Amino acid sequence: MDFGLKDRVAIVTGAGQGIGAATALLLSEEGAKVIVNDLSKDNAEKIASSITMQGGEAVAIQADVGAAIEVNQMVNETIDRFGKIDILVNNAGKGKPIPIQEMMEEQFDEIQRVNLKGVFNVTRSVINHMIEAKYGRVISLSSVAGKVGAVNNLSHYAAAKAGVIGFTKSIARELGKYNITVNTVVPGAVDTQILTSEMRVNIMEKIIKNNPIARMAQPREIACLIAFLASDSAGYITGTVATIDGGFTMC
Ligand SMILES: NC(=O)c1ccc[n+]([C@@H]2O[C@H](COP(=O)([O-])OP(=O)(O)OC[C@H]3O[C@@H](n4cnc5c(N)ncnc54)[C@H](O)[C@@H]3O)[C@@H](O)[C@H]2O)c1
Repeated sequence: MDFGLKDRVAIVTGAGQGIGAATALLLSEEGAKVIVNDLSKDNAEKIASSITMQGGEAVAIQADVGAAIEVNQMVNETIDRFGKIDILVNNAGKGKPIPIQEMMEEQFDEIQRVNLKGVFNVTRSVINHMIEAKYGRVISLSSVAGKVGAVNNLSHYAAAKAGVIGFTKSIARELGKYNITVNTVVPGAVDTQILTSEMRVNIMEKIIKNNPIARMAQPREIACLIAFLASDSAGYITGTVATIDGGFTMC
């Protein structure tokens, strides 16, 4: 693959495992210098050292994307170290199934704080640097749950992921004039630890019945779409909802 990311500087949130880790590794293989963010210091350091061992450049930064102060520190550290931020991948996310009749206000709020406010916090923190540079690629992870509703008692998660789509489209309109593209990547089921074993069984039943491609995605497949949207070749794509779900939704 050649996405041509030589000397680009990327922040990937939630990159300690799963889709974020696959993305950090791929962006580095394509030449980018990568900030590997995660709530888990150990996992972020593990991925950053895999990148360095393969000859790439990476720095692990532990920060909670839902906490603006921690996010601003991370962005300042990135600028001190690399002098710019070209690519932001808002990937950090979480979701725990809870039926609506049992859901507490705090549980709903926590999912919005990480999955939606996290996207706002990091985007707001990097955006002045991108505006100044007249260049930027912002890619945020939503989910098919945000488009067609969640199948696993994840209404709070679906609400946050729908919010990511609305937020992305809006700021794509605001930021195009600065040569900044803003897009959402919308996976179906991806084989990562975010899925509990119960969710896996439920999802696999639906995939086998409904998906033309009757399997889960691998994290690297999602990373490839993210890397393309992060590349110069994707300069005319903005505000889009890039679905990658094996044909599950077809919308
Ligand atoms: N796996 C799927 O089926 C699937 C489908 C659609 C969308 N997504 C989305 O893709 C993204 C990545 O998910 P994944 O499947 O790789 O999950 P994952 O659980 O394997 O990885 C998520 C990572 O985010 C980190 N994280 C969680 N809260 C954080 C916070 N507050 N600050 C910083 N980091 C934090 C976790 O520590 C973890 O390393 C998420 O936004 C998820 O909602 C996943």
